[in-house]
Amino acid sequence: MRLILLGPPGAGKGTQAVFIAGKYNIPHISTGDIFRDNIKQGTELGKKAKDYMDKGLLVPDELVVEIVEDRLKQGDCTNGFLLDGFPRTVMQAQTLDKVLKNIGVGLDKVINIEADKGVLVERAVGRRICKECGTTFHIKNNPSAKGDICDRCGGNLYQRDDDNEETVTRRIEVYLNETAPLIEYYSKQNKLVTVDGTEEIDKVFEEIVVSLGSGL
Ligand code: AP5
Ligand code: MG
Ligand code: ZN
Repeated sequence: MRLILLGPPGAGKGTQAVFIAGKYNIPHISTGDIFRDNIKQGTELGKKAKDYMDKGLLVPDELVVEIVEDRLKQGDCTNGFLLDGFPRTVMQAQTLDKVLKNIGVGLDKVINIEADKGVLVERAVGRRICKECGTTFHIKNNPSAKGDICDRCGGNLYQRDDDNEETVTRRIEVYLNETAPLIEYYSKQNKLVTVDGTEEIDKVFEEIVVSLGSGL
């Protein structure tokens, strides 16, 4: 399976990606996670990306495209992959099409997770992430049984720097202007499936699996 997860900030891409990657046994590639890892490690790439991310803006295409191209050439992507948060502009989508054509493969489906602005802001602002294992929680919708501590590994939970109301609102605007055109782009290629991201987490996953044409 070669899949893309499309959807606004807080739609549930990262949450669903864990289940999808597990079910189809494919690597989960999140460009946001790659940038956050680089920021943590203090790399040049991380330094360049941080300013854009903190402002809720997109990192320039040329920085993103190269990373994804390299990542897709790694051995674990031979039998498929799940891209989360990439592509995010028409230019990125066109480049991806070229890269895949060069390796002689195509996309299977683009999963578009829909949710409206009120839900998105509430979800992003309430999100907490485990520093150790990366598990995503939500203070109301999906809390850790141990409060500020991860109930899977005991790590501390933190909040992303860009998960405040102002930056989330900006990220949603940027999504509508720069990323939403990809809905039409992939719909024209007959690759798009759309699911209702406002349902419960398990329900959304069920809808995705059905839309990919496989059993639960
Ligand atoms: P990125 O990390 O990709 O952030 P995003 O797209 O804004 O999306 P989020 O990670 O915020 O949301 P999500 O859909 O994954 O939601 P989640 O599952 O966590 O990108 C960050 C930044 O990096 C960008 O702003 C940009 O600067 C840069 N960047 C990244 N890729 C780039 C690219 N290709 N080009 C240029 N720049 C790029 O869920 C959110 C919360 O809701 C959680 O708390 C979760 O528990 C809860 N939740 C999830 N599903 C449900 C549900 N069904 N019901 C109730 N609660 C739910
Ligand atoms: Mg995410
Ligand atoms: Zn943990």
